[in-house]
Amino acid sequence: MSRSSRKLDHIEHALTTGQAGTHGFEDVSFIPNSLPNISYVNLSMQTFLGSLKLSSPIFVNAMTGGVAEAEDINGKLALIAREKGLAMAVGSQMAALRDPSLTKTYRIVRQVNPHGIVIANLGAECTLELAERAIAMIEADALQIHLNVMQELLMPEGDRTFEGYLESIARIADHLSVPVIVKEVGFGMARTSIRQLVEVGVASIDIGGSGGTNFAKIENRRNPEAYDMFDTWGLSTVQSLLEAGEINLKGTSLIASGGLRHGLDVAKSIALGASAVGMAGVFLRMVKTLAMQACLDRVDRLHHELKIAMVALGARTLSELGSASVVIGGDTARWAEQRAID
Ligand code: FNR
Repeated sequence: MSRSSRKLDHIEHALTTGQAGTHGFEDVSFIPNSLPNISYVNLSMQTFLGSLKLSSPIFVNAMTGGVAEAEDINGKLALIAREKGLAMAVGSQMAALRDPSLTKTYRIVRQVNPHGIVIANLGAECTLELAERAIAMIEADALQIHLNVMQELLMPEGDRTFEGYLESIARIADHLSVPVIVKEVGFGMARTSIRQLVEVGVASIDIGGSGGTNFAKIENRRNPEAYDMFDTWGLSTVQSLLEAGEINLKGTSLIASGGLRHGLDVAKSIALGASAVGMAGVFLRMVKTLAMQACLDRVDRLHHELKIAMVALGARTLSELGSASVVIGGDTARWAEQRAID
């Protein structure tokens, strides 16, 4: 299986493969404020990821590059990011580091959006030198390092050794001039892994929970010898946020991703401790099915949904929203109780 046909498969299957299990947001309820004493027009959606200032907490999470079709997708995503002031990550750049003729499928993002916040992406097997080259390729403002053990194990051509990742991440975070974001790709993160990443000083952790784009299902669809018993592997997005809430993050900012669909999911993520949220599948579906103006309108709507929640909670800023009270019910509450006992 070539790298480029794998990338096309991922796009195709991400659009058509359903979820397995839920992100958990249905188990999170806000306590409303009937006297919010604020005005919609004075709301601020500004937030910080480490040293990066974002005008919206919503960013386009890593997806693609490295194949001709990706240039078109990345160009459209970058246009949305530029017009709506969203940060944007590209997909893994390893393909272009191996074959420089593919660089343009990533660089398009910087060409379309010269002044926006653009995030480079590599797997945890990368070295400091490769990280520096990936950042230079798109003049990136930050680097995402993705962790995807289960996805690799389910890919016939995937990695089989996962040694030394934490030490390598520590070295990269220590030496790079831009912030390092470590992310999962939809299997969630438990408190032990989150704590280890905090200890090595990464700027930000994206818990990348299950309940959205499901790379176990996607790889199982691509593989005639499917291991579909792993389709429901991992922690949901809300479970992962609760895990992060149990530990001292020591200034490391938290990102929520995995199945977020609308502004209320964004608001719940922020109330559970996230500073920003990544959306991948939502943006892929947008650019594949809607004209550009409709894509821009969809982003306005996402922001409006978030602002509705902010007003109804009396939160002028995202940091006030971070203090909003939530109640956890359903399966997530039962799960959290069990985790507390463990
Ligand atoms: C991804 N994702 C991803 N992540 C990453 O760090 N590097 C990558 O190269 C890719 N590639 C990729 C391709 C496609 C087509 C999709 C849809 C996604 C994972 C992505 O960033 C995110 O973690 C998951 O998709 C879960 O978020 P959503 O889709 O549920 O919002």
